[in-house]
Amino acid sequence: MVKKFLAGALFSFVSLVVSAQAFAQADVIEKRQDAMKGNAANAKAIKAAVESKDYASLFPKGSTAGKTKAKPEIWEKSDDFAKAAKNLNKAAGELAAAAKSGDDAAVGTKVKALGDACASCHKQFRAEKYAE
Ligand code: HEC
Repeated sequence: MVKKFLAGALFSFVSLVVSAQAFAQADVIEKRQDAMKGNAANAKAIKAAVESKDYASLFPKGSTAGKTKAKPEIWEKSDDFAKAAKNLNKAAGELAAAAKSGDDAAVGTKVKALGDACASCHKQFRAEKYAE
């Protein structure tokens, strides 16, 4: 009788521990899925922010008078400048896609690629110091 009771108590204890673990797991799963959704939303926002900028209209010819770091190469090598802007769009689109897929490793790679797309244009077309 006592043995049976003990076995029953042990069984409930074990199932309590197991279900607590299941709850903890459900928590962490929900948490990480929310985090991933946040990633995707943020990447989507970056993509939208990037795509909303039309670099050609932001850099009209002659917009070098004043406090600017824009180098003359922007207009001298306008094809390269347009290419750099296009690269940025592409990188942002790929980041958004990676975040949507929930692939953390890919997100890391695409975040870096996005940063590189910013940096490579700056290196070519943005001066270290203001012209004035
Ligand atoms: C197609 C080229 C190009 C790309 C791509 C680009 N930038 Fe720039 N960025 C410029 C140029 C040119 C300037 C200098 C503008 C000026 O001073 O008139 C600039 C200036 C800036 C500045 C300084 C603004 C200020 O107050 O003077 C920041 C910050 C910046 N970029 C961030 C970014 C980030 C972040 C990205 C990537 C998501 C990016 N840029 C991608 C060309 C680019």
